[in-house]
Amino acid sequence: MATGIIGVGHYLPEYILTNKDLEKMVDTTDEWIRTRTGIETRHIAKKDEDTSDLAYQAAKQALESAELKSEELDLIIVATVTGDQSFPSVACQIQEKLGASRASAMDIGAACSGFIYGVVTAKQFIDSGTYKNILVIGAEKLSKITDWSDRNTCVLFGDGAGAAVVSEVSEDKGILSFELGADGTGGPALHQEGGNIQMNGREVFKFAVRQMPESAEAVVEKAGLQKSDVDYLIPHQANFRIMEAARERLGIDKEKMAYSVNKYGNTSAASIPIALSEDVQAGKIKDGDHVVLVGFGGGLTWGAMTLRWGK
Ligand code: ACO
Repeated sequence: MATGIIGVGHYLPEYILTNKDLEKMVDTTDEWIRTRTGIETRHIAKKDEDTSDLAYQAAKQALESAELKSEELDLIIVATVTGDQSFPSVACQIQEKLGASRASAMDIGAACSGFIYGVVTAKQFIDSGTYKNILVIGAEKLSKITDWSDRNTCVLFGDGAGAAVVSEVSEDKGILSFELGADGTGGPALHQEGGNIQMNGREVFKFAVRQMPESAEAVVEKAGLQKSDVDYLIPHQANFRIMEAARERLGIDKEKMAYSVNKYGNTSAASIPIALSEDVQAGKIKDGDHVVLVGFGGGLTWGAMTLRWGK
């Protein structure tokens, strides 16, 4: 047997904040935001809706799509940098909300790379035969750590959650390769200070346009595949220019790349599982497809994996 993803789900809060709305809040324009980032709208959670509420909605959907009962979960991992509080973890809150009484639970923090770190962690427990079913969620309420008077950052981020159930799949499916990485020397480029996100956009951009294509290519090679074997690419949805760099390196067509940064902005750890869930539901990812996930984020961190889709 191999380890793969057997169910996915996602959730976006209802309220949509447009670039035009932001024009009234800070010195920016719809044109600047669209041409520099590709972002047109983002979803923002209500005051009384926190990260665990978003995570719960995505988790329920993922369990349904995996046809799994919450009591069958052995572990819940939530990738987030915006937990409701330092402790209890969001994972423990989800364990309670789902009634997943057998599951252990923990949060992990690798910023926007967090979901890939989570799935790779889950894979180790399943490969070793320790656990059978692991729920991995990427969930963020970035709006609560956004300085809404800072045009350098407030136009970029959104709230949301995506989830996946990681379990045993048949030998010819599942995770074929992965890579994780970190460079703590780059920490100051993207960090939290005074409660809010602080970012050196140019530094992060330079890092990301180098790292995402490199990692995407590396996991394709590690899987023993050619770039032409890749059926679908899901890059972290931060900026379409960075995503394009990864797509061009793999030499794949535009329609074979997930693209939701225009609708949701950068939802950090949630961006890859939201795109995965949405595109599985839309039928863009089919049984047997080779799918590459690749992300980068604060830390600095990065992660990528190649999957052969299906159970
Ligand atoms: N509206 C108008 N002008 C703006 C805005 C805005 N919203 N934000 C910044 N500017 C101005 C700046 O003040 C600066 O002006 P100056 O040149 O007079 O000082 C100028 O625009 C910046 O221009 P550039 O640096 O050329 O902009 P760039 O093309 O690099 O785009 C951006 C900036 C979009 C931030 C880009 O650098 C980027 O996407 N970086 C990566 C960011 C990212 O992905 N962060 C998330 C990481 S994931 C995570 O872990 C959360």
